[in-house]
Amino acid sequence: MGSSLAMQAARQAVKLRVEDATKHYHTRTGVVHALEGVSFDVREGELVCVLGPSGCGKSTLLWAMSGLHQLTRGRILLDGEAITRPHPAIAMIFQDANLLPWRNLLRNINLPFEIKGIPPAARRDRVNALLKRVGLAGFETKYPRELSGGMQQRASIVRSLAVDPEVLLMDEPFGALDAFTRDEMNLLIQEIWMESGKTVVFITHNIAEAIFLADRIVVLSPRPGRLARIFEIDLPRPRTLELTTQPHFIETLVAIKASIDHGGARAASD
Ligand SMILES: Nc1ncnc2c1ncn2[C@@H]1O[C@H](COP(=O)(O)OP(=O)(O)OP(=O)(O)O)[C@@H](O)[C@H]1O
Ligand SMILES: [Mg+2]
Repeated sequence: MGSSLAMQAARQAVKLRVEDATKHYHTRTGVVHALEGVSFDVREGELVCVLGPSGCGKSTLLWAMSGLHQLTRGRILLDGEAITRPHPAIAMIFQDANLLPWRNLLRNINLPFEIKGIPPAARRDRVNALLKRVGLAGFETKYPRELSGGMQQRASIVRSLAVDPEVLLMDEPFGALDAFTRDEMNLLIQEIWMESGKTVVFITHNIAEAIFLADRIVVLSPRPGRLARIFEIDLPRPRTLELTTQPHFIETLVAIKASIDHGGARAASD
């Protein structure tokens, strides 16, 4: 099973390439080395989780992958072309749902179309189907304050998918949600990903979440973030919540945790 999955993955084209990603922030109090020489590939249709402790440069890396921030050294390639500014094929979902409080749900979802000058009517069917898909049909005229945190984050997922991106970048999108809602959202992400075949990069500092979602987990060391290890997760799909209490899942979790603790100790003695 594992080897056939690995062979299948090897045949897939590289969608995103992170090449020597390095970021030094120049601040009033000195230079912060946030990210140092990180390189890895994300294949077409793959779900890659980037895992690392707080402050290790995960957001810095993702913002660079989205084209919103420049790297100090290195580059990000999409289908072989360097990303230097936000790209229409790449959508990003942030930790905070980032809905505008004075717009209702539908008008929040339509915002990217307005910015791009696309009449929302042109995408109405797609938006309606997505709203139904995430269980938000009927909530179109509600305002963000009338929605739960999970519903707001589902709306932000619809907003990102409505523009039909090829790549979805997610920066700890469920970090602020309770454990039950988080499980539900991870199931939803897996379903949408399996249905759509999109390439997804998902950032988290939660090891179990990364194992549940990922084809591969890219582990970063504590700051400055360096590539510590890449784990291949060959658990069968669709993954269920029951799987997270099975011995194989727990063994994987223990192995990744041990590698992180080991990497952390090594980085601290550098
Ligand atoms: N605009 C900035 N100016 C200066 N330093 C910054 C800036 N953005 C991030 N940093 C620093 O770079 C390092 C990496 O930050 P980053 O936000 O990428 O980490 P992270 O892994 O996403 O952390 P978290 O898990 O807490 O979100 C941190 O030390 C942070 O203080
Ligand atoms: Mg972050």
